[in-house]
Amino acid sequence: KKIKIALIPGDGIGPEVVEQGVKVLHAIERMDQGLSFTFETFPWGCEYYLEKGIMMDANGIDLLQKFDAIYLGAVGYPGVPDHISLWDLLLKIRKSFDQYVNLRPVTLLHPSFTPLKKRSEKDIDMLVIRENSEGEYAGAGEWLFKGKPEEVVLQTGVFSRKGTERIIRFAYEEARKSQRTLTSISKANALNYSMVFWDEVFEEVGKEYPDVTTFSYLVDAASLYFVSDPGRFEVVVTSNLFGDILTDIGAAITGGLGLATGANINPEREFPSMFEPVHGSAPDIAGQGIANPLAAIWSVSQMMDFFDEKEWSEKILATISSIILETDNLTPDLGGKATTNEVGDRFIEILSRA
Ligand code: NAI
Ligand code: MG
Repeated sequence: KKIKIALIPGDGIGPEVVEQGVKVLHAIERMDQGLSFTFETFPWGCEYYLEKGIMMDANGIDLLQKFDAIYLGAVGYPGVPDHISLWDLLLKIRKSFDQYVNLRPVTLLHPSFTPLKKRSEKDIDMLVIRENSEGEYAGAGEWLFKGKPEEVVLQTGVFSRKGTERIIRFAYEEARKSQRTLTSISKANALNYSMVFWDEVFEEVGKEYPDVTTFSYLVDAASLYFVSDPGRFEVVVTSNLFGDILTDIGAAITGGLGLATGANINPEREFPSMFEPVHGSAPDIAGQGIANPLAAIWSVSQMMDFFDEKEWSEKILATISSIILETDNLTPDLGGKATTNEVGDRFIEILSRA
């Protein structure tokens, strides 16, 4: 099997962590005769923008279309407004390729990585499925009477029948397949159109899945439970905005952004899917060689899972679980003194023995 991967290392620590992920892919290639990868790197991001006035080439989407997967570091850097770097690259790719599922595992690999008291690793193990194509991030709105006393801005949440049904259906399928409970997180008491609709669709689609046990929470209560009792969640489905915020809480309770990953999936495989760590470009530590590459490496595990290479996706996860016990081989965010590159090298050593 040959998998064609487009690399967008991006800004700040993006290139530093992507380099380690690519090292892992090369190692897999060496160990698995049946699997090979080709790479092409695209230099898009904020530096590109400062030089050329665009985040990515005008025909960028066409160029990416011929790949099986996109592996992205992070985009955004001081000097370029965040809404430009986000909309003109990351969101453009997610939308153009209809990557409407954002899969974010929230898993505690070691009890010492949670700031919560009395947590065993078994307590926090969920898969958050975030709607990734519309909702509050649809980009719909208006800026009226700019600068005038009657100034008003509107930001509209867009929840289509098609968009809402497909994400909820995907979540039910995932819960059924893995025999886990499914929790929907919404806010129908305050968002009296969009979330009332969301809840209705959740219930309707659920009629086709009588075998799946479901729960429904308001997002404010869910935020509380993410911290006070995260063990109650297994598979979680939620909107674009809520999923964005909840998964950062998820990262906080499981070891921080250095361990959090997310896959942007087009389940129909009509278009390439995109794999990336959840974190951004971390300007505060960029260039120091101390960024934690494990989130980016976890993305490689998600990529292998997506291409039905379950053995590799599990081996990568098992290797993350064992390397995090070796304090000497961790980056400073996890209490170690190792460099990004040293973590990558050690990772491959362990993976090669697995
Ligand atoms: P950030 O995720 O870059 O950093 C937040 C904090 O976490 C910083 O203290 C950073 O040092 C730390 N951190 C993040 N990743 C780490 C890693 N791998 N190892 C060790 N420490 C790590 O978020 P921030 O500062 O809000 O955003 C910086 C830039 O990144 C902005 O321009 C933002 O728009 C962009 N961004 C891009 C994302 C993407 O490309 N998907 C996602 C989030 C932010
Ligand atoms: Mg985010």
